[in-house]
Amino acid sequence: MFPETRLRRLRQNAEIRKMLDLPLPGPEKFIWPAFVLDGAAKREPIEAMPGQSRLSVDQLLIDLEPVVDSGVSGVLLFGLVEDSKKDFHGSEAYNDQGTIQRAIRKVKEKFPKLVVTADVCVCAYTSHGHCGPLTEAGEVDNDAANEVLAKIALSYAAAGADMVAPSSMMDGQVQAIRSALDAAAFDQTLLMSYSTKFASAMYGPFREAEKSTPSQGDRKGYQASYGDLRTALRESEFDEAEGADILMVKPALFYLDVLSKLRETTDLPIAAYNVSGEYSMLHASAERGWGNLKDMVQESTAAMVRGGADILISYWANQYDVLFKN
Ligand code: PBG
Ligand code: ZN
Repeated sequence: MFPETRLRRLRQNAEIRKMLDLPLPGPEKFIWPAFVLDGAAKREPIEAMPGQSRLSVDQLLIDLEPVVDSGVSGVLLFGLVEDSKKDFHGSEAYNDQGTIQRAIRKVKEKFPKLVVTADVCVCAYTSHGHCGPLTEAGEVDNDAANEVLAKIALSYAAAGADMVAPSSMMDGQVQAIRSALDAAAFDQTLLMSYSTKFASAMYGPFREAEKSTPSQGDRKGYQASYGDLRTALRESEFDEAEGADILMVKPALFYLDVLSKLRETTDLPIAAYNVSGEYSMLHASAERGWGNLKDMVQESTAAMVRGGADILISYWANQYDVLFKN
């Protein structure tokens, strides 16, 4: 105790602090989420997410070059299609010649070592903007959604994706996808489940980017409720039992307690998804001069690592060298 013990001795200079501190995560821990457009030579900056754009595949390849050079491990692809291609089931999502299928082939061709993950959901492909086809009552039809999700995952695996990532929060989605993949001999395709994904108010900028806001209602009937922690944790438990390779907590920063609880109850790798609203929040604050962007990014990222994340899905990943190198 004081005065014999003085804790400030342990942080008296930068060299000592550096020796004791948990290091910042290296670039290999990061996956960069990217938004992919049909066509060519298209680049649409996303107003709500400075530093992020919707890109046609040719432009994505250009932007991936420095990301790959910086050592970032992977990319998570989200597709956008024109309204004319949207339908009740979101069937464009499993078109073998679709945007994401093309993107996967091109990205793997140019960057064979980059871990390519494709998001498996239909909200950007359905006319109504929900994460699966609807019942007559207007609810998402769980089991019908699973059939669609399995077809999508299969077509991504066939295009060469290393990993598929179902994000629609349907019961049994992991089982449906895993068994479809295995039946088609894609037993090496990784499955990262958005296992504990909350109905969050922090997805706003993403929905602007993806133009995927539901035309009616919300996603509370399928995404987890932040008021019910136990059920939210069971979501991950079930996905593990159904054969997920990697679990996820999303959003990450608002749910660090969930992340650290899950860390104690599973030995699966866990991904933390640092979502769009968390990204834009720091940008907005920095723009107003209320905080230093790099410091806020490093501090919040360290929190996710401490919380138990093995993998960081983060929009900061395409700026790794600027934000994480001191
Ligand atoms: C779609 C999906 C969403 C996100 C990832 N996949 C939005 C949603 O569920 O409404 C959010 C990502 C982010 O906000 O960064 N199923
Ligand atoms: Zn969805």
